[in-house]
Amino acid sequence: MNKNVIRIVSAMSLFSCMTIGFTSCQKHDENSPGVEFMPDMYRSPSLESNMAYTSLETGEEKQANMLPVKGAIARGYMPYIYGNDTAGYSNAGKYLRNPLGRTEANLKQGEELYGKFCVHCHGATGQGDGLVGGKLPGAPPSYSAGALKTLPEGKIFHSITYGKGLMGPHAPLMTQEERWKVVLFVQKLQNPGGTAPAAEANTVVPAAEGAAVPAEAPAEGKK
Ligand code: HEC
Repeated sequence: MNKNVIRIVSAMSLFSCMTIGFTSCQKHDENSPGVEFMPDMYRSPSLESNMAYTSLETGEEKQANMLPVKGAIARGYMPYIYGNDTAGYSNAGKYLRNPLGRTEANLKQGEELYGKFCVHCHGATGQGDGLVGGKLPGAPPSYSAGALKTLPEGKIFHSITYGKGLMGPHAPLMTQEERWKVVLFVQKLQNPGGTAPAAEANTVVPAAEGAAVPAEAPAEGKK
């Protein structure tokens, strides 16, 4: 082969090697995929959740994930319809019933939950003598004395849900089912050795109705 051609080819390959060498060391965007040989492999045609995309029909900017329909609730989530006010408290006492049975298993789980969430204030026997309870400006009242001895299950649940006075709300900490289990245990402490206190006189709801408000319930307690 002609010597000149060899020289030109070597000079050209040296030049391209140097060009590649120098440019590859340049600072570049870390997130850039660099040269794209097969762009389809980089950009998936499917829509990712939460990404924005342009509608082919209207050209409009849209969001892949739609907002839930108004009033939609998450699966398994049970809304609590009694408001955090005096009407809600009194209606919960009248109409709210424990959907769980007073079984040994439920009581045992209630006791465990009480040991995690309540015992430090209310004490092991519910006398308000827990380690934290004793340090509060006003110690929690005893479950088995005074007004609390006959506090109906709906009001117990309501107060655990929203909190009362120095007691914080427990709705963000425990599911409704867990709160009902704790109610069973609180009732045991209200009446140590005895049976659960009867519900308030004007009981109209069968136990299975749970959180539902019957037709004759006044509406002002709802939020
Ligand atoms: C920070 C301490 C604290 C914790 C934790 C706490 N409580 Fe209380 N609780 C109180 C105090 C204080 C009161 C008195 C509130 C008032 O009447 O002002 C009270 C009141 C109550 C009442 C009476 C409510 C009413 O309607 O009069 C019940 C029932 C009760 N607590 C149950 C529970 C249960 C069950 C738990 C655990 C899930 C719990 N508490 C956790 C401090 C606490």
